[in-house]
Amino acid sequence: MVIVKTIEALQEVQKKLSGAIGFVPTMGALHHGHLSLIQQARKENDHLIVSIFVNPTQFLEDEDLDAYPRKDAADIKICELAGVDILFMPTIDVMYEEDELCIGAPAIRGYVLEGEKRPGHFDGMLQIVMKLLNLSSATNAYFGKKDAQQLALITQMVKNYFMDVNIIACDIVRDENGLALSSRNVYLEGEEKQRALSLARSLKRATKLIMAGEKNVELIKKEMLLVLKDTDEVEYVAIVDREFNALERVEIGNTIILVAAWVGKPRLIDNIWI
Ligand code: PAJ
Repeated sequence: MVIVKTIEALQEVQKKLSGAIGFVPTMGALHHGHLSLIQQARKENDHLIVSIFVNPTQFLEDEDLDAYPRKDAADIKICELAGVDILFMPTIDVMYEEDELCIGAPAIRGYVLEGEKRPGHFDGMLQIVMKLLNLSSATNAYFGKKDAQQLALITQMVKNYFMDVNIIACDIVRDENGLALSSRNVYLEGEEKQRALSLARSLKRATKLIMAGEKNVELIKKEMLLVLKDTDEVEYVAIVDREFNALERVEIGNTIILVAAWVGKPRLIDNIWI
C-alpha cells in the first residue's frame, strides 16, 4: 500500500494503473461499516483507492469538526490489512483554495430531512465528493446506504454532471444488537448505548407493521415515535420514496424509512429500505 498526501503524488501512482479502479471515500475512524465497503470494492476492481479526509465544508459552524474522531495510525493498519493499494490522506490546503467555485445541493431533495436540519451540509459534501471522484478516476465508487440521502444526492450529481463513474450502494452494517455502526457511536456513554438501540428498534417495528400489511405512512410513523421515546430528542421520522419524495402509502420496493435522533452527545441516523 502506498500512502499519498498530495495531488501530484496521487497522479504519479495513478499513471501506472490499468483496469477497473474502485474508490471508497471516508472521513476515517474506520469501523466495520467502512470495511464492508472496502472489502466489496476490493473484490470488484483491479485497483483500490481509499481516501481519508475530514472535510471541513460539510460541518456546520456548531458541529463537531475539531472533536471528530481521528485515528490515523489504526486506519492505516486497517487499510493495509484490507488490501488497499492507494491510501489518499490529503490536508485541507491540498483540497481547497481560498475562493472556490461551489456546487450546491438540489433545492428540494437537498433541503429536506438532513438537508433541512443541517443546511449547507450537503453542499460541502457534494463539493468534496466531486473533487475526490475526479481525482480518483474511479470506475466504481462505493457509498453506504447508512447515509441514504447523501447516496441519493451523489447519484444525482453524477447524473446531472455526466460524470463517468458507477455509484455502488452498499448495505448498512450493524453491531450484534442492531445499532448501525457510525464513527459517532464512540460518544455514547453507559446507558445511552442501550437507548441508542431504539432507532433500529423503531425501524424494525415499522417493518413488522408493513409485513403485516400496513401501508399508511402516518400510522407507521406514530408507532415508530412510541419506540423512539427512549431517545432524548427525535429530529425526524420520514417515509419517502427512493428519490426522497414524501409518501402517503408505503410502496414496496420503492420506500426508505429514515430516523434521526439525539441520544446523549451524538446525533444518530438510521434507515431501512423497504
Ligand atoms: P464517513 O462518515 O466516514 O462514511 C464513509 C462511507 O461509509 C459513507 O459512504 C457511509 O455511508 C459509509 N458508512 C458509514 N457507516 C456505515 C455503516 N454502518 N454501514 C455501511 N456503510 C457505512 O460519509 C462520509 O464519510 C463523508 O460524507 C464522505 C462521503 C467521505 C465525504 O466527505
